[in-house]
Amino acid sequence: MKVYLDNAATTPLDKAVLDEMLPYMTEHFGNPSSIHSYGRKTRAAIEGARKMVAKSLNVSPSEIFFTSGGTEADNMAIRCGIHDLGIRHAVTSKIEHHAVLHTLEKLEKEGFIKLSFVNLSPEGHIDLNHLEQLLKENGRTFVSLMHANNEIGNLLPLKEAGEICAAYNAVFHSDTVQTMGHYAMDLQKIKIHFVTCAAHKFHGPKGVGFLYISSSVKINPLIYGGGQERNMRGGTENLYGIIGLAKALEIALGGLSEHQKHILEIKNYMIEQLKIVIPSVEFNGSCLDKCLYTVLNVRFPHTENAEMLLFNLDIAGISASGGSACASGSDIGSHVLRGIGCDVTRPSVRFSFSKYTTKEEVDYTVSKLKELFAVSVSMIS
Ligand SMILES: Cc1ncc(COP(=O)(O)O)c(C=O)c1O
Repeated sequence: MKVYLDNAATTPLDKAVLDEMLPYMTEHFGNPSSIHSYGRKTRAAIEGARKMVAKSLNVSPSEIFFTSGGTEADNMAIRCGIHDLGIRHAVTSKIEHHAVLHTLEKLEKEGFIKLSFVNLSPEGHIDLNHLEQLLKENGRTFVSLMHANNEIGNLLPLKEAGEICAAYNAVFHSDTVQTMGHYAMDLQKIKIHFVTCAAHKFHGPKGVGFLYISSSVKINPLIYGGGQERNMRGGTENLYGIIGLAKALEIALGGLSEHQKHILEIKNYMIEQLKIVIPSVEFNGSCLDKCLYTVLNVRFPHTENAEMLLFNLDIAGISASGGSACASGSDIGSHVLRGIGCDVTRPSVRFSFSKYTTKEEVDYTVSKLKELFAVSVSMIS
């Protein structure tokens, strides 16, 4: 049996999304910047996709800019936001995705900003009182705090954070890569300047995303070139990617409550079953309270077999993750788990679910974990 429990890293493409994309790989191939009929056809398709995305967030299509994914969108918001709005101080957290963290750290190293880190609770929640204090003590600030953490799932109350930022005239960016397509968002109700999206996190294609830029802020491009994206992002558009993104978002939001219910049931079921078969199991982050329903980060007991847990799971056909996929290959451990002061000497695994995950897959995974830990215990006893 093969079980895919790494949906926070990426999700499989929905067949209906592929069907929507295919004609734009074959007969509708015109460059959207061309003024002839081929170009007009694809230009209209891109603008249709932009309208769909904008409608889903209750914003204007002129506030949506397609990018190559979440990393580029985060880079653009942070680099251009800080440079072009004349900001000298930024606030973030130690558990942001590296697309945010490394970008801000580079800007600090280059001498453009002073960077402050907001305090976190032991479960990984942002201390909003400390955020307010940092804003009070410094000049106009760029705040970058993710909506949901990709490793432990912790959710930020976006509305509350936005109110605090607005009270101090701060510019507010949130990496919403893990929540876009997983929650309904009405950006008219949140005081926020930038949010980001990657289509591959909700059964869309890889290599495409968008940046929402509130019309209240004016920035320059990150990537210069042709006049694409209304002069905000040079480069021929990823036509079929954009078509796929819009279709995937439409499907995700259309079935949202059904998907949420199914995935939460799966997550709760896995928690229950794990507690039964490995009673000393613990969970990183806040797990159920104010947590993304697609992510479950499990801390296992420290036994011999546990050292090679991900490897052993992989051999059993189960794909999960030890942290962020983007950091795999480096063995420095999770900066997120270290950031919340977790016991990183114990092996942790992130299981992440999708609308396609079944109870049978969870049963199989838990049974394999039971075997692995039973073997370890007998080996050390
Ligand atoms: C929270 C978060 N931000 C940004 C990214 C980067 O997105 P992309 O893979 O589209 O560059 C990811 C991807 O893992 C993510 O989880």
